[in-house]
Amino acid sequence: MPIKRLLRRTLRRLGYDILKIPAAQRTFASLPEPAPLAPVWPLPRAGFSDDEIRRELARFPHWHYAYEFDGGLAFQTSHVNPGLDSDRPERPLQRFRHFMPYVGSLAGKRVLDIACNSGFWSIQCALLGADVVGFDARPELIDAANALKRITGADRAEFRVLDFWQMTPEALGGQFDIVLNLGLLYHLAKPLEALEWTKAMARGQIILDTAVHPSDEIALHLKWEEPFDVRMAAEEGIAALPTKAAVELMLRHLRFPRWFEVPVRSDDLPIDYLTRRRVTWVIDA
Ligand SMILES: C[S@@+](CC[C@H](N)C(=O)[O-])C[C@H]1O[C@@H](n2cnc3c(N)ncnc32)[C@H](O)[C@@H]1O
Repeated sequence: MPIKRLLRRTLRRLGYDILKIPAAQRTFASLPEPAPLAPVWPLPRAGFSDDEIRRELARFPHWHYAYEFDGGLAFQTSHVNPGLDSDRPERPLQRFRHFMPYVGSLAGKRVLDIACNSGFWSIQCALLGADVVGFDARPELIDAANALKRITGADRAEFRVLDFWQMTPEALGGQFDIVLNLGLLYHLAKPLEALEWTKAMARGQIILDTAVHPSDEIALHLKWEEPFDVRMAAEEGIAALPTKAAVELMLRHLRFPRWFEVPVRSDDLPIDYLTRRRVTWVIDA
């Protein structure tokens, strides 16, 4: 300690300082690898012909996921602002294999899919035996999700039009065993409050998957977001992109008992995960 103090004092005189890097919550080495969990893919079809599926999907101009059905019928993503990496058909499947194994068996679990878009995650969880409520602020996405529910026969999924800030246990029939907060945090202006609201919905695990601002600082990177595409904020306004350290600090502030960052164990992942510009946490609520 005296050496550190002396070193610090000397550095201070020269205009420098030592900054402490907070210890990781849990080292990856001590984190057991879960049993693999594969997505149900291609999607089953509950008696729908190719033409009927094409007709249903043609009702919507924009698709965030590239859906594929039994029998080789496949559709591409369609965005107002196509992205090189974000439009790759394998993206949601890679994401699924990356973090969903940490949830374990979904059979009989109650799952909340926040900002469910057209229902990729909800339908997967429902096909794997969970009772799912998915909601999104965009009515056309809930319409699309219900179309996919009919086509796939994922009867355990229920979809609602709801804004994130209207989410309460009372509005959604109580708390959930698993809460999926995926791809939303960085579209909202108030990430700390958003995590607090997410916590209120959970009685088991939360999976938090978010883009992070690439910096070691504890910081929020503010930007203005327009709602011009189905993957964007539902309303124009500030979107606050947290750094990874900021997310960790917010989890600490909210007194979650335990959490860990999902380690990148494979190269078979979207580039934003490989470069740590997107991170997933498994949080015990
Ligand atoms: C990048 S997509 C993520 C979709 C999905 N959760 C995933 O991770 O694959 C963002 C989604 O958040 C929804 N969204 C944005 N702001 C919202 C809000 N205030 N309330 C509910 N949904 C919102 C959008 O409509 C869109 O479906």
